[in-house]
Order: sequence, then C-alpha cells, then structure tokens
Amino acid sequence: MIPINMPIIGDEEKNEVMKVIMSGQLTTSSIEGGQYTQKFETSVKSFLNVKHVFALNSGTSSLYAALLSLNIQEGDEVLVPSFTFLATANAVLLVGAKPVFVDIDLTHYTIDPKDLKNKITVRSKAIIPVHLFGHPADMDKIMEIAQKHDLRIIEDAAQSLGAKYHEHQTGSLSDIGCFSMYPSKIITSGEGGFVSTNDDALADKLKLIRNHGISQSSDVKILGSNLRLPQMEAAIAYIQMSKLHSFLKVRRRNAEILNDLLSDLNGITLPSEAEGCLSNWYLYTVALEKNRDKILKNLLSNRVGAAVYYDPPIQKTPFYITAGYDKLILPNTDNVSKRVLSLPVHPNVSEDDCVHIASTFKTALESAK
Ligand SMILES: Cc1ncc(COP(=O)(O)O)c(C=O)c1O
Repeated sequence: MIPINMPIIGDEEKNEVMKVIMSGQLTTSSIEGGQYTQKFETSVKSFLNVKHVFALNSGTSSLYAALLSLNIQEGDEVLVPSFTFLATANAVLLVGAKPVFVDIDLTHYTIDPKDLKNKITVRSKAIIPVHLFGHPADMDKIMEIAQKHDLRIIEDAAQSLGAKYHEHQTGSLSDIGCFSMYPSKIITSGEGGFVSTNDDALADKLKLIRNHGISQSSDVKILGSNLRLPQMEAAIAYIQMSKLHSFLKVRRRNAEILNDLLSDLNGITLPSEAEGCLSNWYLYTVALEKNRDKILKNLLSNRVGAAVYYDPPIQKTPFYITAGYDKLILPNTDNVSKRVLSLPVHPNVSEDDCVHIASTFKTALESAK
C-alpha cells in the first residue's frame, strides 16, 4: 500500500534523539524552553521570516494558546470553516467561545469571504482561516474584512508549512500562525506544533501561556497550561526543518506528475493553485462528479492509499449535532465533502508510484461508471 501520508525519519533524527536521552535533560520548565526547542525555533523563524516562533506540544495546543493570548472567551464568536479537521473548531470551544461555521469556496475549499461577511455579528472577535490541504486561503479579502470589522486573525497553518501567499509564508500573514507536527504533516516530531507572530506583546503572552503563565519560580502572570514541546520531539523537529526544502520539492514534483497524467479525464476537478499562491501539496485532492466512494474502494484494493478529508464536515459530526449545529446548511461544504478524494504525493512516493496511482485511478474512474 502507498499510504496517504507517512513520517519520514532518518538516522539524523535518531542520532539527535539519542543525544537527548544521554544528556538526561528530557524537557525543561524554563520559560525559554530547552536547547533543542530554541534551535528549532530559530530555524523556523528564519524560514517563515517572522519575529517570534514558539514550539508547543501539538497543533491543537497552538490554536488553544493563540485564542487564549487574544483573550477570546465565553460570549465571543470565532468564525471558522466547517470543512477542516475538528481541532480548528474544538479549540474555540475549549476557551469557552462559540465557533460560527462559514462555508467554503468551490475551487480551493478554503473559507469563503462572501459567506464570512454574512456571518459576522456584534459578538464576532476573530477569524480562523485554514490553509486547507496546503493551499493558502484568500487572505487579502479575509484581512480586508477583518480590518473593517475589527476582528483578529489566527491562521490555521497546521497543513500549510511552506505554502506561500504572494511571496509570504502562510502562518506569517496575520496576528498568529498555528502549525502542527503530527506524523502526517509536512514535518513531524511525533506530536508537536508551533505558533508564529510578529507582535511582541502577543509573543510575550504566548511564551507564558505555554508554561502555566510562569516566567520565574511561582511568579504566575496569566492563565496558561503545560503546552511545552519535550526535547526529544524538539530534536526530531530541528532535523526535520533541515529537510523541509527537499520534502516540498518532491511533493511538488509528484503533484505535477499527477496533474499531467490525469489531465485528460472527464468528471473530475484536479487541484490547482490560485494566482500568486504556491501550495505545499500537503494533500493532492480531486473532486469527482459522482461515484466517489466506489472509486475510493477500488483504489484501496489496488495498493493506493487514497483517503477522504473531510466527510462528514464538522457541523455534521455527532458532538456538534448535539451541540445544536444540525440545522446549519453550508451548501458548498456539504457538496464538496461528498465528492473529494485525496491521493498520496508525500516525499516517499516515487515517480513510478505516481504512474501506478494515476493508472489505477483511471481504471477505477472508468469501472465506477
Ligand atoms: C487543519 C488542522 N488544524 C489543526 C490540527 C491539529 O493539529 P494536531 O493534530 O497537531 O493537534 C490539524 C492536524 O491534525 C489540522 O489538520
């Protein structure tokens, strides 16, 4: 089976992990983080070209910390897409605020600025655009709306490390960027994540929030939690950063091969890049006119680890139905969630694998008719 995504860990990561184990310092509660945390943060800062980066123990923790740092709380509303991973909305609930779901656009499946405007109320405090599948959201329009209505922006860049919006790295465009290093992601540390910001005041708060609000001894300034990234994970992440450019290069090559080999098919929309945008090709996601589930089954039985993200969308999951979202209609989200399918393009997919994936896909599409 060619999996949809996989962690790519080499001897370099293993050697650094051994060094951490031998050092005996597996983590630290110091406000600045441990040696590897700091090395990792310096490397990400230069890649993203931002002033501050803090490593945290997951992408979910990053969203949670970002919301806390902006004082989002009970009574506030946060505008989020429903066509995303659960964490985007769960983090809003975790700080006591209400996620307000916004529909997506049909081309890149990211938050739709037109619907965004319709969903703003006096309680709206922030927007969380998700750079879904590694393609940037429509940030100029989103930022214009945010400015007009005095809303903060947290980019959910969990899937978009290395994707660019008009020459800028995603996650560096707004108040705070939130990234994940879960094993399926562009780089991994097992579990892990990080936040980025150019705002000095927010940076001070984020650093405290990751550490129970403690800067020195029990000098507790604000509410925080233990969101620290341990040293073994930070060591893996630091090495993974040195491989990021090569990971991105192979993902793009694979996406281009698939685009080329699948270009003559009917009944399918291939992924594309909006003008001025560069995807990181975290997922290569096609939309089918019909027979999605039959095609998926056929691919899986022929060694192609295709997957569906996201069906159901968040508002249709049992927890959110019980929370009262069952009547919500998001036409594009509901439509797309029944039609999309992602194919593997991660760095361990070879050119030959791409040829196998494309030919299996063509056969599956034909035989599903
Ligand atoms: C869009 C999105 N947001 C948030 C997260 C949460 O990240 P993590 O799993 O590291 O908590 C993920 C990844 O799983 C994600 O894909």
